[in-house]
Amino acid sequence: MSTACVILAAGLGKRMKSGVPKVLHEICGAPMLESVISAARRVNAEKVVVVAGRHIDSIRRSVGAADVFFVLQKEAKGTGHALLCARRALGDFQGTVVVLNGDSPLVEHETIKKFLRLHRRDRNALSVISFISKDPKDYGRIIRDGSGGVSAIIEEKDAEPIQKKICEVNSGVYALSGDALSLLDAIRMNRAKGEYYLTDIVTEAAKRGLKAFAYCIGTEEEFMGVNTREELARASLLMRRRISKKWSERGVTFLDADSVFIHAGVSIGRDSVIYPNVHLEGHVKIGRGTTIFPNVRIVNAQIGSGVVIKDSSLIEDSKVKDRASVGPFAHLRPGSEVGTGARVGNFVELKKAVIGRESKASHLSYLGDAVIGRGVNIGAGTITCNYDGVKKHRTVLGDGVFVGSDTQFVAPVKVGRGAYIGAGSTITEDVPAGALALSRTRQKNIRGWANRGRKGTGSKRRKV
Ligand code: UD1
Ligand code: CA
Repeated sequence: MSTACVILAAGLGKRMKSGVPKVLHEICGAPMLESVISAARRVNAEKVVVVAGRHIDSIRRSVGAADVFFVLQKEAKGTGHALLCARRALGDFQGTVVVLNGDSPLVEHETIKKFLRLHRRDRNALSVISFISKDPKDYGRIIRDGSGGVSAIIEEKDAEPIQKKICEVNSGVYALSGDALSLLDAIRMNRAKGEYYLTDIVTEAAKRGLKAFAYCIGTEEEFMGVNTREELARASLLMRRRISKKWSERGVTFLDADSVFIHAGVSIGRDSVIYPNVHLEGHVKIGRGTTIFPNVRIVNAQIGSGVVIKDSSLIEDSKVKDRASVGPFAHLRPGSEVGTGARVGNFVELKKAVIGRESKASHLSYLGDAVIGRGVNIGAGTITCNYDGVKKHRTVLGDGVFVGSDTQFVAPVKVGRGAYIGAGSTITEDVPAGALALSRTRQKNIRGWANRGRKGTGSKRRKV
């Protein structure tokens, strides 16, 4: 049996108080709508249709893909009207239509699959997933008939006091088979809200004697709708817990999982340890037995095994190879690579810099557009002067080079293997292999200078 998914995403999202369409608000680095689209894909939907409103262009730009159809709902006239708008895009589709809410980002494909199995097993025309809510006022209440079937879904605004006590609520996920879609034509506008409620198809199905059922297979943690910023924060926390649980089960230690932010495109090897307040964003791959200390943010980077990333470091679009050590307070800007067993320490900034195996830049440096060989020692305060105001130039240091502290390399410049740079040098010319380069002036000591009067002022210097 084939399945099509329609995702309702055209609501105004007024309660978010935002200029950004509600379904584009992000949870763990992905717009809410994207999570729902991926769930739809994973139930092997033949067709995925997104109903979007006046923000359709920005929504398409953000989550558009070749396999997703977008349909415009010009005015947000309610969930029933939204599904009507999708009907044309479904064309002569004959299978089961699954309706999902774009603002329920925690929905999992396994649950939808299970729901579809029940829907088909029981040969229903219409099915809906329900769940028990601790605070049901934001959801439609499931009204059961005497035999346990569902006779209506009533929103808070329209509910009688006794109905408000019902805790079983509508998840917003429906399955429609056969001509259940034609129930939409019977929906009348809800006077209280001026909208066409999709939930009214349940009553219409009952009127026509079509088989409808609500399966209470959901949990609030999976089906919560996001209507406010507070709910967005709650959904983010639930998603974060889901992700950290997955990695814990695969052998990763978290010292405080609730304080860690890990995107879906991240993978972490076993025996790695993640300290509090760590952010792993975009596509990040971390090897085995790596330790990430507190307040580290890693964006689109590959980190090897046995690596230590010390406190308060930022790594963007870079590579850190096995057994290397980075930080504390290091910044790896895009295009950098820290070689196997290499060390990048306190207040060191790299930009498009490749640091060879076992090399060290331990303190206070800026290394930009640099290629640094193996076993190189970069002294404290070394700076590559890579920019001449117009263009960027490269600094190339051969294997085994020793750079004394407070050196500047005025690029383009090359230093041959095993050469030494005396501390405090400004290197403007290439240095041959094995040479010692010194560019500072020789020291001069003026004896007794401090005891002499300062010329022209009559003042005395202090006695030493
Ligand atoms: C809806 C359901 C409620 C259910 C809850 C689950 C109705 C009338 N109510 O309530 O029973 O418990 O979801 O979370 O259906 N949308 C459109 N076009 C519109 C209006 C909404 O596409 O004109 C989309 C929204 O973008 C959203 C979804 O439909 O993704 C649900 O709309 P929303 O206004 O959030 O409905 P709720 O009040 O949460
Ligand atoms: Ca909602």
